[in-house]
Amino acid sequence: MSAILVTGANGEIGQALIRHIHDGAPEKPIITLDLKPPVDAIAPLITNALIGDVTDPEVCEAAAHAHRVDTIFHLAALLSTRCEQDPELCHHVNVEGTLNLLRLAHALGRAYGRVAFVFPSSIAVYGLPAGRNISAPVREDEYLMPTTMYGINKLYCEHLGRYYSHYYQQEADACVDFRALRFPGIISAHTLPTGGTTDYASEMIHAAVQGKPYAAFVHEQTRLPFMMMPDAVRALLMLAQTPAERLTRTAYNVNSFSISAAEIAALVQGQFAASQVSFAPNPVRQRIVDSWPNDVDDSTARSDWGWSPAFGIETAFSDYLIPGICAHYGVSSE
Ligand code: SER
Repeated sequence: MSAILVTGANGEIGQALIRHIHDGAPEKPIITLDLKPPVDAIAPLITNALIGDVTDPEVCEAAAHAHRVDTIFHLAALLSTRCEQDPELCHHVNVEGTLNLLRLAHALGRAYGRVAFVFPSSIAVYGLPAGRNISAPVREDEYLMPTTMYGINKLYCEHLGRYYSHYYQQEADACVDFRALRFPGIISAHTLPTGGTTDYASEMIHAAVQGKPYAAFVHEQTRLPFMMMPDAVRALLMLAQTPAERLTRTAYNVNSFSISAAEIAALVQGQFAASQVSFAPNPVRQRIVDSWPNDVDDSTARSDWGWSPAFGIETAFSDYLIPGICAHYGVSSE
């Protein structure tokens, strides 16, 4: 049986995706790559856990061929705030790592047939003109002028994937089937992000459940699109499974809802009256979020492959975040 390769397996999306794949198809071999051994939550679900660097050309070659990998979820990356601290390291990991995995996908495709390559891109590919308040949801081909190293890398990797899918050495037969999702901020009930700039939303909610005060690093009017982790995983798997003839683009916006930092704080306070949320904007991180759209238009994902989020603002809190995070920390949700 062919296998799935997941890079960045210990990351937030990696952990959630691996659980979901295993629940749906326990017999499907899962090969993972991460800098560290798999965390306990996913370790038993993995067939072959490779430890290494995504930029190493040989790190997963033998295992990928041995297991006949036919689908790659290339999730390993540094996030946007971390990337501004070391832009060249970010370029190395995020771009060289993606190129390395695309090269592997091409070799696998040559040997055994087409390889699906699913890539999480981001709202960071957009760069809004400073000082302009764009309230209309942004479409995929608008405002592609990213201001962060992370966003530049994501946009370039979308193009690299398109090249490997359709134009590699101008060959007629493609070996790689690359598809990308431009994710909004993602919030999980079970894990916390590190080094991202949408992290304030997750940090605020996780702090409140634990009874810890939290100072958000953005101002309260900051409004961004967000999505719950189960919807992000569903989107990845839906896009991976859609027949190629239904796709009209390489990279799709996906969205659930747009919400301000103050609105998140109000929802948290409604549930945990004792929560202490304040706002202490960090100028670097504020500039990053100010360059990203308030909202994105995901109508092409909806019409091409039937995308629709399961959670809206209300149900995200009532049905997923509050019960999930309370169970995670062993706190009563009453
Ligand atoms: N959530 C990511 C970050 O904040 C953006 O895709 O870096």
